[in-house]
Order: sequence, then structure tokens, then C-alpha cells
Amino acid sequence: MRMRKKPNLIPRMERCAAVQIMEPEALLGRWGEEFSSYREIWLELGCGKGRFTCELAQRNPEVLLLALEKVPDAMVVAMERVTEQNIPNVRFLDRDAELLPEIFAPGEIARLFVNFPDPWPKKKQYKRRLTAPAFLERYKALLPEGGELWFKTDNADLFDWSLETLKSCGWTLRPMPEGTPMTDYEARFTAMGLPIHRIIGVRP
Ligand SMILES: C[S@@+](CC[C@H](N)C(=O)[O-])C[C@H]1O[C@@H](n2cnc3c(N)ncnc32)[C@H](O)[C@@H]1O
Repeated sequence: MRMRKKPNLIPRMERCAAVQIMEPEALLGRWGEEFSSYREIWLELGCGKGRFTCELAQRNPEVLLLALEKVPDAMVVAMERVTEQNIPNVRFLDRDAELLPEIFAPGEIARLFVNFPDPWPKKKQYKRRLTAPAFLERYKALLPEGGELWFKTDNADLFDWSLETLKSCGWTLRPMPEGTPMTDYEARFTAMGLPIHRIIGVRP
């Protein structure tokens, strides 16, 4: 679904400049050094408006959470939430997940989160899914062996396809614990009584 263009996007983003990393490519291979006070660095792909981002970061103050989002009109809402709540351990990256290899060196990210990604239902669009083999290759390149991809969706077809794709790419699967923070989409689907599908993929 396309978002309406937010008014005053630029000044709103500027007011939250402290939580955005403008040139993440400059930190390639140096994330740990730059943020050495944190135990680990986690990365959320497609954070949207950031409900999950805020709660995950607040529950894990010893971790730096990077939230990547390619649509600034959504990301600005997440940035404002983090700024208003004074959450110190989140930084935002206004980038497409296709660019991950230009931003992170091998092993720099300990854990990845993909929540309610766009389902891309047509077969010719499957390659755009954030659980497509080309994306799993990118994730493999930035996670250490045993690093985890936490994945949630309401879409049963996308979920089944993702399980098969993960397995065929050598990832092992394990159940996600109950009680992970809710995302904005998850709150909406849960209120509608729809089931939510969850899995953790472990990097080969
Ligand atoms: C359906 S929304 C879900 C938002 C949020 N994760 C949630 O659960 O509420 C999917 C989000 O992923 C973002 N997204 C999709 N593909 C992306 C990509 N390749 N790189 C970065 N963000 C992406 C979209 O812009 C959108 O904000």
C-alpha cells in the first residue's frame, strides 16, 4: 500500500537528525568500533512507523537497533516516536535492503528482523520478497554463522514460501518465542482476529 506524502517531511526529519545515520555506507566494517558500548547490533528491515522498533529497543538497552526503511514518509513517524520517547539505542537508515552489502561487512549484524514485509503475490514478483534467495544471500553475508532472522507475517502463502526458501537455502528453522513486541501491522491484523505466522531462521 502506498503511503500518502507526509507534509513537511524534510523539517520533520531534520528535527530527528540525531537518530538518523545519513551515510551508513561510511561505517561499512566499522559498526562495532563506532558503537562499541553496545553488546550487539541488530537490524530491522522495513521498520515502517516503528511501534516494534521502539519496544524492542526499550526491552534490550544493551543492544543497538538499526532500523532500515526505504520510504521516508513512514520512517519519519518511527523517528519521531524514538525521539519523543528518548530511546537512546536506535538509529535509522533511509535505504533499500538491496543495498545491505554496501553498508555491512560480514558478521557485523547479530540478529535480523523482517516483520510483515510486502507479500509480492505474483510469481514474477517473488524475487522482490524480503525472504527471496537473493535477500537470504545478502543476510548470510552480514550475519555470523548461527545468526538469526526473526520473521513475522499475516500472509500464509508468503510464510509457506519463505519456510521452503529458507530450508532450500540451508537455513534451519526454530519456533519464535511468544511475546515479541507488536508491530503496527500486527496490531491491526490481530485486532481483526487474523492469525500471525512466526519463525526464526538460523543462518547456515
Ligand atoms: C507492510 S509494511 C510493514 C511495516 C512494519 N514492519 C510493520 O510490521 O508494521 C512493509 C514496510 O517495509 C518497507 N520495505 C519494503 N521493502 C523494502 C526494502 N527493500 N528495503 C527497505 N524497506 C522496505 C516498506 O516501505 C514498508 O514500510
